[in-house]
Amino acid sequence: MARAASCPFDPPPQLKDLQEEAPLTRVELWDGSTPWLVTRYDEQRTLLQDPRLSSVVTRPGYPSPAPLRPGADSIGFILMDDPEHMRLRRMVTAPFAMKRVAAMRPAVQRIVDSLLDDLLAGPNPVDLVEAFALPVPSLVICELLGVPYADHDLFQAHSRNLVSRSVSPEDRGASFGALNEYLTGLLDKKAAEPAEDVLSGLAARVTAGELTRREAAGMGVLLLIAGHETTANMIALGTAALLEHPDQLALLRSSDDPALVGSAVEELLRYLNITHNGRRRSAVEDIEIAGETIRAGEGVIMANDIGNRDPAIFDNPDDLDLTRAGNRHVAFGFGIHQCLGQPLARLELQVVYSTLYRRIPTLRLAAGLEKIPFKHDGSVYGVYELPVTW
Ligand code: HEM
Repeated sequence: MARAASCPFDPPPQLKDLQEEAPLTRVELWDGSTPWLVTRYDEQRTLLQDPRLSSVVTRPGYPSPAPLRPGADSIGFILMDDPEHMRLRRMVTAPFAMKRVAAMRPAVQRIVDSLLDDLLAGPNPVDLVEAFALPVPSLVICELLGVPYADHDLFQAHSRNLVSRSVSPEDRGASFGALNEYLTGLLDKKAAEPAEDVLSGLAARVTAGELTRREAAGMGVLLLIAGHETTANMIALGTAALLEHPDQLALLRSSDDPALVGSAVEELLRYLNITHNGRRRSAVEDIEIAGETIRAGEGVIMANDIGNRDPAIFDNPDDLDLTRAGNRHVAFGFGIHQCLGQPLARLELQVVYSTLYRRIPTLRLAAGLEKIPFKHDGSVYGVYELPVTW
């Protein structure tokens, strides 16, 4: 379900046709399997709350976007079902809760300001991904988890491999193994010398026998990858989209209103929906929905990118409108797996979008949009590089 080259911010046009025809339909995947593709917002939300759908990738019928890597099910709780999923998720909800995250705003602002100081003092043009979009969430998640940022080359490279469909399953497996080993080592260090961070909390639970070392390392890998890869793409892709919509960018740059910054973040999340492979599940029982029967053992893909453009829910859904009110997008998913890090992602994006374009009012692309390498082959959409100048 890669995006069409014609407008790199829109879902593939075929999805719009499918959405107009029916709420769900069969599609054929790379392996010849024919899961259901759910294109309408209401049916997506209904199904994402249905416990008869499983997130376990090794179950029959799971519609994987690419051949599975060895050990594909060993990554935190995102690919588990309840009650296992909830047992593990509960152990890390507190540090990602709204109030705790809100207290991090001054620290996030300092990180953003300091990276922009360096960027402005450095070469022009520059790749915004490397100089800014990737370091912001990496520094933040490192601080929260207790991962040394000095190791960023290692964990960023392996994360990039893990979310790429053009990397072989064996190489993705090797990258997971390397990250897992790295996190296991850190957890051992935290057990010996605890600090005020999430990994120390997990290490203490391992010592207390509430969690195995393997489970703790898998959770560490999940939080580290999810914590930087997604937000980095939203920063760079969001900037590309705003630079292509100068009227909207001008609105954001000229307003002091935190409510506008908030609605701008929600709208960019809706419009860009970077987790463009959709929410993937397999049915464990028969499910009747919209006049169809999803049989036990069949795959289901909730295409949230087109769900976020459903005209039954959003007026003029293909317009980027930073003032859009009541934006109930599904860019963070829905149901039990709804994004754990959403308060943190929102905070980072609010700080970035309200700072970057004000500090660099003349920011513009240093290459035509057609020259920008978009991540059509990744499970998270974005840009590999974003050359900018000012
Ligand atoms: C703009 C940035 C982000 C977007 C668009 C995003 C999107 C998503 C989506 C769509 C899901 C649902 C997966 C599913 O249903 O299968 C999810 C889950 C998750 N996200 Fe995020 N995410 C973002 C940032 C973050 C951050 C900063 C963290 C911090 C660690 C994070 C941690 C997680 C975790 C742990 C899960 C799994 C939740 C569960 O299975 O219960 N995410 N995210």
